[in-house]
Amino acid sequence: MPEIQYFNAVDSRDEMLASLKKDGAIIVEGVVDKSFINSLREETDPYMELSRPGQDEFSGKYTTRTGGLVSRSSKCRDLIQNQLILDMCDGLLLEHCGRYQLHLTQIIRVKPKETKQLIHKDKWAWGNDLNHLEPQLNTIWALSEFTNENGATRVAPGSSTWEDKREINEEEIVQATMKLGSVLIYTGSVFHGAGSNESDADRIGLNITYTLGWLRQEENQYLSTPPEVAKDLDPKLLKLIGYSMGNYSLGYFTPPGDPGELPEVVPPQYAVGLKESPSFGYVNYEEKESE
Ligand SMILES: [Fe+2]
Repeated sequence: MPEIQYFNAVDSRDEMLASLKKDGAIIVEGVVDKSFINSLREETDPYMELSRPGQDEFSGKYTTRTGGLVSRSSKCRDLIQNQLILDMCDGLLLEHCGRYQLHLTQIIRVKPKETKQLIHKDKWAWGNDLNHLEPQLNTIWALSEFTNENGATRVAPGSSTWEDKREINEEEIVQATMKLGSVLIYTGSVFHGAGSNESDADRIGLNITYTLGWLRQEENQYLSTPPEVAKDLDPKLLKLIGYSMGNYSLGYFTPPGDPGELPEVVPPQYAVGLKESPSFGYVNYEEKESE
């Protein structure tokens, strides 16, 4: 029988990373407590309650998705920067990039009557051209308990290297059951899908995902958290959500203005008032002294 390994937050990060690379998924229990979840839910429930279900089988006709959580939730901002998760990102994603970035934030509420989602790889968001590398690390934080009955995520452990067209048998799938405050961490390459909800309560998870700094983000962070909102956030978070160069030349911009009024080529963090030089890239500007 395939298995997902369970860890506690204090366990060895190296062992977590080794299991994640081998199986494509791990569960870490007890990372945040109930009061943290309650505070997060207070911030996000008003948005979730009014979110409409999906339009097709894949997104789920009894499933709601609520995004834009960098702007909407301080507790979500904490989870995005959770050190355990960033350690896993370091180990998985820095093999293929100088900097990784936030990919999406989404509360996924699977309601009663929802049927199981098609098994898939999340990296298919970019098509089928990324089979030679791992472009993505994903988390689903359990905002409710995840049980076999209420639709805990179905995962095929060890499937990260399986071909896209491979048939997946039921015996190769396990459900990521977990308690509130635990987190399922999985790669962009592992086959998985939401389970069916045969209970009478919602299954609620918070999906926060990360990708290589040189790939297009699934949730457009610049529009979900535009500069006028972003400028008040923690600089480290800003860089993580994309207000930073994605590679030597990726992501610069030229601010609009009269000839000579503003620097010609600046990094994205210029838009949110961060003054320090980019850590890489050909952009180089000097701040004008304020007059
Ligand atoms: Fe998925």
